Formats: sequence, C-alpha cells, structure tokens
Amino acid sequence: MKSYVGLLCAGLLLQALAAPLSANEMGRQVYQKWCSHCHDKGSDYPGTLALEARYKGAVPAALKERDNLAPELVTYIVRNGISVMPFFRKTEISDQELQALGAYLNRASHISKND
Ligand code: HEC
Repeated sequence: MKSYVGLLCAGLLLQALAAPLSANEMGRQVYQKWCSHCHDKGSDYPGTLALEARYKGAVPAALKERDNLAPELVTYIVRNGISVMPFFRKTEISDQELQALGAYLNRASHISKND
C-alpha cells in the first residue's frame, strides 16, 4: 500500500512537471515574479503609488485592476522601463513570457484574481 501511494505521488508529480503551462498561468507567474512587488494593490507598492498620483483615481492604480491596459503598452514599458521602473531583458522575461504577461494583464480584471 505504502509503495503504491509513493508511486502515485511520483506519477502525479511527473505529470505536473511535464504539463505545459497555460498562457494565463505563465502570465500570472511572470507578473508575480517581476511586477507584483511594485504593482500590487496597496500603499506599499511604488508602481501603484506612482500611477495613483498620475491618474488620480481616473483608472485603478493597481495594474491587475486595469481594463484598458493594451499589451503593446505593457511590452513597450517592460522592454524600455519608465521613471524608476527598470527595463527587463529577454534573458529575464522572454518574448513568449512577455506576450503571456500582456494577455494576462489585459484580461486580469475580468477573471478571478486568484486565477
Ligand atoms: C521597481 C518597481 C517596478 C517594477 C519592478 C515594475 N514596475 Fe512598472 N512601473 C513602476 C513605476 C514607478 C511606474 C510609473 C512610472 C511613472 O510614470 O512615474 C510604472 C509604470 C508601469 C506601466 C505604465 C502604466 C501606465 O498607465 O502608463 C506599466 C504598463 C508597467 N509599469 C508595467 C510593469 C510590468 C508588466 C512589470 C513587470 C514586468 C513592472 N511594471 C515592474 C515601477 C515598477
């Protein structure tokens, strides 16, 4: 019985490792790794504070709550940086990841925040 459970766990683990990430999951992970510490909702995040000051409530300050964030803008800003926001190299965020990130942020306001 014990070895059976072990085998089952190993099997599930292998399956999880082999399964390709969905684009949405990839976008979410890239956001968590590179953007969340500056752009999450709240007063501890410099990106959110800067955008709050800029838009004065006209649009949500947290990126994940925006519904007007064009993927082209995300791509441009991620590759070039803006103000204190650094730019990100392709060795940090690949083109494929950037595409997933743009799509994720574009639809992030329409889907569950835990998704
Ligand atoms: C070190 C903190 C920091 C990190 C990390 C960071 N940003 Fe920013 N970001 C900022 C700040 C600050 C601004 C506002 C700059 C300004 O205009 O004053 C900004 C602005 C932006 C804007 C412009 C929004 C608009 O309405 O013009 C986008 C898009 C953006 N960031 C996306 C991202 C993404 C995507 C990531 C992750 C790959 C990221 N940022 C990582 C700090 C950061």
